[in-house]
Amino acid sequence: MLAPSSEGGVGAARWMRVCRLAELTEGEPRRVVVVGDERDAYTVTKDQLLGSIWVTKKGESVTALSAVCPHLGCSIDLNGDKQSFSCPCHTSKFSLAGAAEAGPSPRGMDPLVVRVVDGHVEVDFKLFRQGIAERKEVG
Ligand code: FES
Repeated sequence: MLAPSSEGGVGAARWMRVCRLAELTEGEPRRVVVVGDERDAYTVTKDQLLGSIWVTKKGESVTALSAVCPHLGCSIDLNGDKQSFSCPCHTSKFSLAGAAEAGPSPRGMDPLVVRVVDGHVEVDFKLFRQGIAERKEVG
């Protein structure tokens, strides 16, 4: 769907266009997939599913949280009442802002930097180490 605007790697910005701002409902997190180029030392594979994130619009502000659970990497869901998130694997629970509230997750959901460009939401897509309290980006 969308290509990153830089080469990637730990610490490098990797802007991915994930949805249109107009597709977001005020105050309601929306899960979007991130598709882009996957790179290793020798090859670039185009249009790979890189992950999914939760994007929320509140007034003029747009925030994004990784959907990867910081415990062991399962995919975090929005609860039915849309007032919190939870992980189906070991029942970690998170607030709408991503704070860890219950369960074994060693930290809150991982926030991602967001910008809006020409009506499109773009996210600096990153993955983080699982199972530790510290938020450490992985390449
Ligand atoms: S992987 Fe999410 S709580 Fe264990």
